[in-house]
Amino acid sequence: MQDLNELLAKIGEIKAEIEAGSAELTTSKAVYEFKKTFLDSKQGKISALMKEMRNIPKEQKQDFGKNVNAAKEWALSYFDELDQKMKAEELRQRYESEKVDITMPAKKVKYGNLHPITTVRNQLSDIFMSMGFDVFEGTEIETDYYNFTALNTPDDHPARDMQDTFYLSPEFLLRTQTSAGQVHVMENKKPPIKVISPGKVFRSDDDATHSPMFSQMEGLVVDKGINLCDLKGMLTMFSKQIFGEDTKTRLRPSYFPFTEPSVEVDVSCFQCGGAGCKLCKGTGWIEVLGAGVVNKKVLENCGIDSNEYSGFAFGLGLERIAMLKYGINNIKMLFESDLRVLDQIDD
Ligand code: DAH
Repeated sequence: MQDLNELLAKIGEIKAEIEAGSAELTTSKAVYEFKKTFLDSKQGKISALMKEMRNIPKEQKQDFGKNVNAAKEWALSYFDELDQKMKAEELRQRYESEKVDITMPAKKVKYGNLHPITTVRNQLSDIFMSMGFDVFEGTEIETDYYNFTALNTPDDHPARDMQDTFYLSPEFLLRTQTSAGQVHVMENKKPPIKVISPGKVFRSDDDATHSPMFSQMEGLVVDKGINLCDLKGMLTMFSKQIFGEDTKTRLRPSYFPFTEPSVEVDVSCFQCGGAGCKLCKGTGWIEVLGAGVVNKKVLENCGIDSNEYSGFAFGLGLERIAMLKYGINNIKMLFESDLRVLDQIDD
């Protein structure tokens, strides 16, 4: 650079370059980078002008310095203003993007709920526990003795055909009924006994109302002077609580090897109130469980004196109760974990 005029022209060029370049900038970061190309103390184009001082005639040096400084001041305030504008715009955009529309409907939070079988099991347990029953959970693998023989169903007994059994070995099997728990309880506790035993049971059986794995709840009461009337009274109370206050109960004669007499328990249809409908197949009654007075032979097998003590027992299927309560006509629906089905059942 030779003289002041050349400097003034250069300053004009730099200002024009700054103004044109600024129009392209969209972020404060870009402003910062662009500013550096002019004002960085080492490489900035304006800062570089000062280094030209040595080529300038002495008498122009003062003006030269003033002009460079003025250009520097101008650029500094120009970039400051630009930076403030850019930051304000960035803030506005951030607020815009973070804006919450409080009139939008809230996102639905999906809660899980208990499986219908668990719900039924809990409801039944609550009812029986409020009547003073303890809970005994047996094991799913049982011996032939506990599942059958001790329950007055020896090897050659025709009642064994009632339950198609999964044998694991000649001695061990998957329990076919929670009744097996009765024997364990009576072997280990002296009367009075009042216990329920819920759990999974297994049978080689598979159709719309049967599944190879299902759940039962067994009940057992043993004390002095227990008879069929106690059973009927307790079942009536139970049925009202689970199916509704107007529910009636009736007993029909039946057969189970471990009870004598044995009964099948029906409740008045809770859908039609007993008039007859599709659910009760027009009869007004629905079968819900098997029960009876504990067979003396079973008491004796467990070391309980049948002259001193007597008892009643009952067994019900939890899937059956759930199907009745929730109007499910295929047992498989309870095991397929299809949310379209399960979502509708929330008790
Ligand atoms: N264990 C029987 C079954 O699985 C149900 C049953 C009937 C249990 C009568 C009992 C009873 O305790 O007394 O079919």
